[in-house]
Amino acid sequence: MRRGAIVRIAGIGIVVAILVTLVAVLIPWLPTPASQEMDRIEFVYWFATVISIAIFSLVMAVIIYSVMTFRSPPEDESDGPSIHGHTGLEIAWTIVPAILVISIGVLSAVVLSQNSSAGTNPLTVKVFAQQFAWRFEYPDNEGIKSGELVLPVDRGITFEMESADVIHSFWIPEMGQKQDLVPGIETSIVITPTRTGTFTLVCTELCGLGHATMRAPVRVLSQPDFAAWVKEQQAGGSKGDPGAAVFASAGCGGCHAFTPAGTNGAIGPNLDNVTASAEKAGQDSAAYVKESIVDPAKVLAPGFASSNMPKDFGDSLSTEEIDALVTYLTAAKQ
Ligand code: CUA
Repeated sequence: MRRGAIVRIAGIGIVVAILVTLVAVLIPWLPTPASQEMDRIEFVYWFATVISIAIFSLVMAVIIYSVMTFRSPPEDESDGPSIHGHTGLEIAWTIVPAILVISIGVLSAVVLSQNSSAGTNPLTVKVFAQQFAWRFEYPDNEGIKSGELVLPVDRGITFEMESADVIHSFWIPEMGQKQDLVPGIETSIVITPTRTGTFTLVCTELCGLGHATMRAPVRVLSQPDFAAWVKEQQAGGSKGDPGAAVFASAGCGGCHAFTPAGTNGAIGPNLDNVTASAEKAGQDSAAYVKESIVDPAKVLAPGFASSNMPKDFGDSLSTEEIDALVTYLTAAKQ
């Protein structure tokens, strides 16, 4: 009789385990990993998931068996039998979960420690965040700047991150690692890409009106292709126009639509008609654009009640960069 009960509980447990395992395996819960760190994180997920499936199946098996076997008829209103504790059972269900939780904790600590090591030959990339754009700088490669995150495959990359205004958060889903950028603190994170391809860097901290649009393209290249990209950037970029380079690296397209740059941000005014706006305001277009970059709150474009634009471009961009940007923006007469 007792043996029959154990067999039935085990049978129910196996059926539940199969169903839950199918849910875990058949639905693509996580993106295909693209970094060593994500491989390790995924291992922790599966380790915890397997334990969860085992415990869930055991508990469900006992509950389902009890409900079926010990159900009382509808008219039976007598008290159930009085049952006292079972010391052996209580010791078991205290010790076993303690061991499981501790093992998950130890594994997580090991993975966390491994995931903060960039290996012997790391590449440093500086990340600057501001409402609502990302900018990247490569101090190991003569300080080239980019609005697109380009990385070599199979090399540890240390990201050193700063925020100019509020808290943002750096996350490339396929790469797993996630880190906040906090004003006044330099934070860092390590990623070692394992496959080439294009990805998206996402801001995962609600940072204001343009949070949802605060994204940047990520390209992982083979090491020779990365070296070629670095050379090309050092030679002045493929586009040639220094104003276009500043527009991209300063992240203007995150908020502004500008046809020559192919951007369609809608947080700030459309820049296609900036010359016409200056003429309407009775100003020289170059002076008008320059003032709008350096002191964006002074004159608000029609339809904009307040300025969300960072007020520090006068400091963060050099005079040459601002002049190049002004020329780029005013040259595109409609
Ligand atoms: Cu930056 Cu959300």
